[in-house]
Amino acid sequence: MNSEGEVEDDAAMMDGATLDWGAVAAVQGVRHPISVARKIMEDKPRFLVAESGERFALEHGLEVCDKDDLVSEEQYQEWKEEADVLDRPNTVGCVALDSSGNLVAGTSTGGTTGQSQGRVGDSALVGAGLYADNQLGACSTTGDGESIIPVVLAKTAIDALAEEAHPDQAAQHAIDTLKARVKGEAGCILLDRQGRIGWAYNSDNMAVAYMTEALQQPAVFTQKE
Ligand code: GLY
Repeated sequence: MNSEGEVEDDAAMMDGATLDWGAVAAVQGVRHPISVARKIMEDKPRFLVAESGERFALEHGLEVCDKDDLVSEEQYQEWKEEADVLDRPNTVGCVALDSSGNLVAGTSTGGTTGQSQGRVGDSALVGAGLYADNQLGACSTTGDGESIIPVVLAKTAIDALAEEAHPDQAAQHAIDTLKARVKGEAGCILLDRQGRIGWAYNSDNMAVAYMTEALQQPAVFTQKE
């Protein structure tokens, strides 16, 4: 929620087969911003902000809702009390590989708690908040957008895969780069074209889950051992 108590969402999706992408930022009253990003990606790659993203959602029959429906009672109380919640990012991301070798990345966020109206972070920016390339891998990031953008965190992790690094090493390299060059906390999840999984973060914790053909149920972590 921003400083006015509104939810402004940013989201993007990228297809590793074609390098197509779609993004929205600062949209309100859209139930699933990632679905809007996907529809844009399929339509033609572009970045729609605020009312133009909301209008695109309406015109394409995607679910819109009352702006207040996107705020839970718990979030509203936290926002009112403002204790320890300012600047906390509210991001969810995913990366996936299908049986044909196609990789995709998606990232969606409500920004950081208490952010100013109209602020847009990294999540909808290809290269910073996400990246997918069938030749290398797919990455989604979370954390302080103001720190993630200047180190192009997702692309930094993907580029490290080109050096034959394991995704865990590539993810750690990206976070080490962020720590060395800028202040701030961030995390990234990474999948390479062989389906190997990696993640790294420099915050206290980061929730991660993954599912593979070999698993009966998802593996879930709140901290990396
Ligand atoms: N990573 C979310 C944001 O900074 O908006």
